[in-house]
Amino acid sequence: MTCNAKTKAVALTTTFARTFARIIASTFASVLMAFSGLASAAGDADRGKLLYQQRCAACHSVDYNGVGPAQKGVFGSTAGKAPGYVYSDALKASTVVWSDKTLNQWLADPQKLIPGQKMGLSVPDAKERGDILAYLKKAAAP
Ligand code: HEC
Repeated sequence: MTCNAKTKAVALTTTFARTFARIIASTFASVLMAFSGLASAAGDADRGKLLYQQRCAACHSVDYNGVGPAQKGVFGSTAGKAPGYVYSDALKASTVVWSDKTLNQWLADPQKLIPGQKMGLSVPDAKERGDILAYLKKAAAP
């Protein structure tokens, strides 16, 4: 009898310990996932590089003017200032300063941010904009 009860108690303790370990493990996993979520919210520069090559490089490069202006030093500069590039009147006259926020607005809807501009492309997906800008911030650093 006594012996049996003891065995039961041990078995119960073991089950409890296992459940507890499982809860700890799953909490740890969700904390990890929350962190990786944060990292991607800040923008994934590697994915951004790929997207930049697919969506932007036909018209832009960091160092040279093409269909679109060269992008070196674009972060922190006023719109329409790449040397030697012929901008639309709208961009020339604009006082927008390029930051994460304004570049995000530009990529989402250039025409809404600066009416009369001549860039014929937008990036509707917020995550893709974040990734592209994370890449551009590094690649176009002055
Ligand atoms: C079809 C060609 C084309 C593509 C593709 C394109 N752009 Fe542009 N981009 C332009 C043109 C043209 C301008 C100049 C707009 C003006 O003068 O009104 C411009 C301007 C800009 C500016 C303003 C720069 C400045 O000097 O003020 C930024 C920033 C920009 N583009 C980023 C991007 C990014 C990032 C992508 C990819 C998601 C992209 N563009 C794709 C043609 C393009």
